[in-house]
Amino acid sequence: MKLALKIWRQNNAKAEGKMVDYAIDNIEPDMSFLEMLDILNDELIVKGEDTVAFDHDCREGICGMCSLYINGEAHGPDRLVTTCQLHMRKFKDGDTIYIEPFRAKAFPVIKDLVVDRGAFDRIQQSGGFVSVNTSGNTIDANTIPIPKHDADKAFDAATCIGCGACVATCKNSSAMLFVAAKVSQFALLPQGKIEATDRVLNMVSQMDAEGFGNCTNTGACEVECPKGISLEYIAQMNREYLSASLKG
Ligand code: SF4
Ligand code: FES
Repeated sequence: MKLALKIWRQNNAKAEGKMVDYAIDNIEPDMSFLEMLDILNDELIVKGEDTVAFDHDCREGICGMCSLYINGEAHGPDRLVTTCQLHMRKFKDGDTIYIEPFRAKAFPVIKDLVVDRGAFDRIQQSGGFVSVNTSGNTIDANTIPIPKHDADKAFDAATCIGCGACVATCKNSSAMLFVAAKVSQFALLPQGKIEATDRVLNMVSQMDAEGFGNCTNTGACEVECPKGISLEYIAQMNREYLSASLKG
């Protein structure tokens, strides 16, 4: 396949960015999107040009690093996949592909397509954990009975990989789907009940402090989430938040 690429280039958060044109040839349909970018960068190195910076780590849909906006969609045109799981067979020979970083005030550009998602880490640090007493005998996890439905719902929430596609897709740059998943994965389990009140209040407060926008229930986040995190978790978090506020 022969493709025309239009890629966002920006030296740092303060520099002005612009779309730059690149032509690329000999792309196989079974290559991944990131392999296609690797080939472009190899060619740029041979020409002595600055390579395109993009984030990646696991390349198998686990780490949430590969945050690219492709032809106007977070993680590109496929559903329920991350950019690293997107294959070039989703495009046609001769296509023009627009590649941009995830755009949000709370995700400043570091370089080109790499953004700083440290805001998500700080939200996690403010409450996305459970405290466990590890002195003495360790309690076997199976001694705490958990209804299957609750375990399944908690597991589904825990599949959020923190990629930020929900924020990049939302017209308000809201992080509600991410925070809701992180609150719910604990709120649904007995181990998470002890710190439940502080957790939801602290995480929502940190989310607001980081400059994410408000949720207006448009649902774009759910559509673009590569892990299929449901809007139901936002409702779950709102219930947790109301109950925590009344206790406070
Ligand atoms: S909720 Fe979905 S889109 Fe948002 S960070 Fe988690 S996995 Fe990514
Ligand atoms: S590189 Fe890890 S999810 Fe894509």
